[in-house]
Amino acid sequence: MGDRLKLVLLGPPGAGKGTQSVVLSRKYNIPHISTGDILREAVKSSQALGIKAKAFMDRGELVPDEIVTGIVIDRLSKKDAKKGFILDGFPRTLKQARSLDESLKNISSGIDIVIYFETSSKVAIERLSGRRVCKKCGFNYHIKNIPPKKDGICDKCGGELFQRPDDKEETVVNRLKIYEAETKPLIDYYVKKGILKKVSGGLSVDNLFKVLSNIFADAKLV
Ligand code: AP5
Ligand code: MG
Repeated sequence: MGDRLKLVLLGPPGAGKGTQSVVLSRKYNIPHISTGDILREAVKSSQALGIKAKAFMDRGELVPDEIVTGIVIDRLSKKDAKKGFILDGFPRTLKQARSLDESLKNISSGIDIVIYFETSSKVAIERLSGRRVCKKCGFNYHIKNIPPKKDGICDKCGGELFQRPDDKEETVVNRLKIYEAETKPLIDYYVKKGILKKVSGGLSVDNLFKVLSNIFADAKLV
């Protein structure tokens, strides 16, 4: 199981990529590699990488390709990524996609499947404005859709919940604009390669998980 699942999740901010990654990673026992999470961790611990990335992230802009691509290639070379992985939030530009293809040539066969979470701006904005994240363990909630049992407190570890600084309305608008301009062209890029599958990001967490599990099984990837 999980031997061949090299997966990319593509979709706008708020589509639910991170949420599905957590459950898929557990089910198929493959690492969840989120460039957003890696960058946020670097910001939190004031690493040089974090200091460079913070200004871009706060404005809702993309961190330069060279920086992000280096992080991912490094991460993919680790032992646990050999049997499969979930890339969440990478690639996000055509340049990143080409660099990924190039680097996978050296370490394994290429990406098996790209899942595009088709999601309206309305749903994306509603999801982002209601997102709350645990300060301690990073688990994501949504004040309406996936509320914690106790307001402001993580069910899993008791940590305090906070709003991501880039989930403020003005930053969200910019993130969506940049998604349209920089990341949407990747849909075509992967359609042409014959590995893109479109799903509805508007489904519930459980239903989307079922749809995805069926897609991987039908494609004999698991
Ligand atoms: P990143 O952290 O990747 O943010 P993003 O792509 O904008 O995506 P989000 O994490 O906001 O959304 P998601 O799809 O993961 O949704 P989630 O599951 O949390 O990137 C942050 C920044 O880092 C970027 O702006 C950029 O600066 C930089 N960066 C990262 N990668 C980069 C790259 N490759 N190149 C350059 N720069 C990069 O769900 C959202 C909410 O909805 C949650 O509250 C959740 O509980 C809820 N929810 C989820 N699924 C459902 C559902 N099915 N039904 C109801 N509610 C749901
Ligand atoms: Mg995410």
